[in-house]
Amino acid sequence: MPRYLITSALPYVNGVKHLGNLVGSMLPADVYARFLRMEGEEVLYICATDEHGTPAEVSAMEAGMDVRAYCDMMHEIQKDIYARFGLSFDHFGRSSSKENAVLTQHIYKKLEENGFIEERTIRQIYSLDDERFLPDRYVIGTCSKCGYPAARGDQCDGCASLLDPEDLIEPRSAISGSRNLEMRETKHLFIRLDLLAPEIEKWVDGHTDWPRLTVGVAKKWLNEGLKPRCITRDLTWGIPVPREGFEGKVFYVWFDAPIEYIGATWEWAKANGREDEWKSWWFDAEDVYYVQFLAKDNLPFHTVIFPAMLLGTREPWTMASYIKGFSWLTYHGGKFSTSQKRGVFTDRALEIFPADYWRYFLMAVAPESDDSDFTWPMFATIVNKDLAGNFGNFVNRTLKLTASRFPVAGGSCGSGVRSGARTDAGTGSLDGKPGQPVGVIPEGGEWGPREEQLQADVNEALDEYRRCLRQMEFRKAVLALKKLWSLGNLYIDERAPWNLLKTDREEGAMVLRACVNLVRTFALASSPFIPFTAERVAQALGLTSEEASVRMADVGNLRALGPGRTFEVPPVLFKRIEDDEVERLTREFAGEGA
Ligand code: 2FM
Ligand code: ZN
Repeated sequence: MPRYLITSALPYVNGVKHLGNLVGSMLPADVYARFLRMEGEEVLYICATDEHGTPAEVSAMEAGMDVRAYCDMMHEIQKDIYARFGLSFDHFGRSSSKENAVLTQHIYKKLEENGFIEERTIRQIYSLDDERFLPDRYVIGTCSKCGYPAARGDQCDGCASLLDPEDLIEPRSAISGSRNLEMRETKHLFIRLDLLAPEIEKWVDGHTDWPRLTVGVAKKWLNEGLKPRCITRDLTWGIPVPREGFEGKVFYVWFDAPIEYIGATWEWAKANGREDEWKSWWFDAEDVYYVQFLAKDNLPFHTVIFPAMLLGTREPWTMASYIKGFSWLTYHGGKFSTSQKRGVFTDRALEIFPADYWRYFLMAVAPESDDSDFTWPMFATIVNKDLAGNFGNFVNRTLKLTASRFPVAGGSCGSGVRSGARTDAGTGSLDGKPGQPVGVIPEGGEWGPREEQLQADVNEALDEYRRCLRQMEFRKAVLALKKLWSLGNLYIDERAPWNLLKTDREEGAMVLRACVNLVRTFALASSPFIPFTAERVAQALGLTSEEASVRMADVGNLRALGPGRTFEVPPVLFKRIEDDEVERLTREFAGEGA
């Protein structure tokens, strides 16, 4: 039995992330982790903020803060948002931790011992007024190819050409605007990817089951030929380089960031008082199946560079067993843009709709093989049709009908026909006190062929759902889930218990009992995608914590809840999003360029 180690790409600490960042790594990893836990697997789900590098330094400077204090603050902000999205990390760490520094320096030393580090002198732009070297992207000027006035030293946003700082006309510092720049010589360390290339290729080729996107990127890099790659920077914020002559230099953020997957596991183990346990996941850990989730721009680092770093140590580090890469989520056909405030950011998203709306929608359109597009009309259609119409409607109509026909004895609900009864948000009752059971699962009647068929259909849909999730085919898993939910509406419409109760009360009771059990099945099965809603339904059904945490293999049992159990009617689970709201949101989020 393998143990599952799951990591999602570490979000940069500066700035709140947008929905594209969320669906490109953390959210699918969370769905997968939640699913595997329900399968009874041992899972460790790790993430962290990626805190080093110039962007963090510059953002701190802009905020007028010390960089560590800035990172402390931004880490907490992001951590809080992810908790409110229901991301069930076992640990959400920080790449600026001591643990990461120790590991990064260790891995570097091993690479050096094994001959995979080379020292070179390079020429780099130095800003006399900023008193620092400037990374390429922090040099701005006019593009010599298209005349775009704010091209960066690494790339022009006007014509998309890759540039060198020398290609800029009238270059200036992006930090201070100073034109007082000169070329200076500086020493740096390079990892010899060229020497490690054959081993990386062999490792990639050994994984024939990887997604096409993942293998495609790895192969492209390998086929273009790997060159030594610089792993140090002239900065102060970062992990110091333990080598003579490198005082005042740090490792490049991309060198220490992936090592933080290990670092955060160490942080987790320490926080749990079993410090040595991190090793059982990362070192000589043959029973670990390690899955990485990331967006496609991160694929080169995870398929080539990080593996090379680990292989070059000649130590038995855990390497990825599977790499799930994602394409881009676009926003109304264009890019999400932080600078132009275009698209929906995670903090704002939660102010507009509860987390489960986003979780479900994003996974339903996850850019698994191709890019996919976020539009407000599509968001509304999917929420209205699947969550409000299919799942929510079945739950509410079933529980309302059952409670109105089989109220709790002496309860506040009365026994009359209450087809028009509506629940008020925030209460568990039809018209009584909040949080009070109002209905009883009725007894009587025996399953007939239709119920046997229903059980078989439920089992089949669940099998399909589990198969898709095992394979990390999330969009297909959502389809299987929708199929499962539809079985409820089909069944209740066909059996029309509201009529049956008039002609054959026992039969009607049995059908409602099956329907309440379907509510349980749907909620528990859906919990990897919509955990908050699943919990609300489980509470409404009065499930004990043990009952609410059953294995996926047991959620399909339509006899789990027997007669006599009481339940509440939860408030409407998902509210429909109307056209005027769609229009308003489309306008509000169009961005500054609109
Ligand atoms: O692209 C990014 O957002 C990076 N911060 C991802 C780092 S992933 C890992 F290697 F740390
Ligand atoms: Zn240009």
